[in-house]
Amino acid sequence: MLPTLRQRISPIKMIKKERRLIIAGNWKMNKTVAEALALVNGLKIEVGKVKELDIVVCPPFTALSEVSKAILDSNIRLGAQNMSENSFGAFTGEIAAGMLRELSVRHVILGHSERRQYQKESDELISKKALAAHATSLKPIVCVGETLAEREGGLTETVIETQVRGSLAGLSKEQMVETVVAYEPVWAIGTGKTATAAQAQEVHAFIRAILVSIFDDTVARRVRIQYGGSVKASNATELMALPDVDGALVGGAALDVRSFSDIIKNSIPN
Ligand code: 13P
Repeated sequence: MLPTLRQRISPIKMIKKERRLIIAGNWKMNKTVAEALALVNGLKIEVGKVKELDIVVCPPFTALSEVSKAILDSNIRLGAQNMSENSFGAFTGEIAAGMLRELSVRHVILGHSERRQYQKESDELISKKALAAHATSLKPIVCVGETLAEREGGLTETVIETQVRGSLAGLSKEQMVETVVAYEPVWAIGTGKTATAAQAQEVHAFIRAILVSIFDDTVARRVRIQYGGSVKASNATELMALPDVDGALVGGAALDVRSFSDIIKNSIPN
């Protein structure tokens, strides 16, 4: 049984983070190779030596190889934005997990709302991709989030629970602790509208309660849950201090050295 709504809402206060923060930049379909190198070289100067949290950049596939080489001597890690559920073969236009590992990619974003919307990715497909990622030692960042219509229709919890259960189906406990969940309310993506601290904490705590129910308390306490949707330097500190927010998945503000570095610097725990 999941806890009731009242039990789930914990007061928002600064507490020592249980989990190491992970701040990832999702560059989406932006940056040529030259632009990607300029961005990542700037990030290396600003935050390349930060040790207090995990930093991940997720360039488009075409820039992965060069960015991978550029970040070798830094603490910045590499992520991809998608991958195939298949490991090789006649799948024109697809990229396999093993090809990403060859480029030292460590993370892969799966089930981003843009792929759910434009490529009609289902929870079932996303769970297959998550299993394929783990089979190749890639750590998935599995995205979930409700649309504005769903939130206004009172469906947030139903949608989130369906997506979490469906997208993580079949993962072992060991695989789950190596998986990051990203809560990205669709209405907050690229709109400048950020979920309030209370809204973010409420859904993050709800997701953790679902993880307790699917796996167990120990697993749920170890899984990192990122918030995504109009994260910027000015709201990062408040969001990252929330008890169940363990990082950020940043879109627009990750495309610029200054704004992404400031998000990272403002998120470093005291
Ligand atoms: P924005 O930060 O541009 O709102 O995008 C969020 C996102 O979709 C990250 O995956």
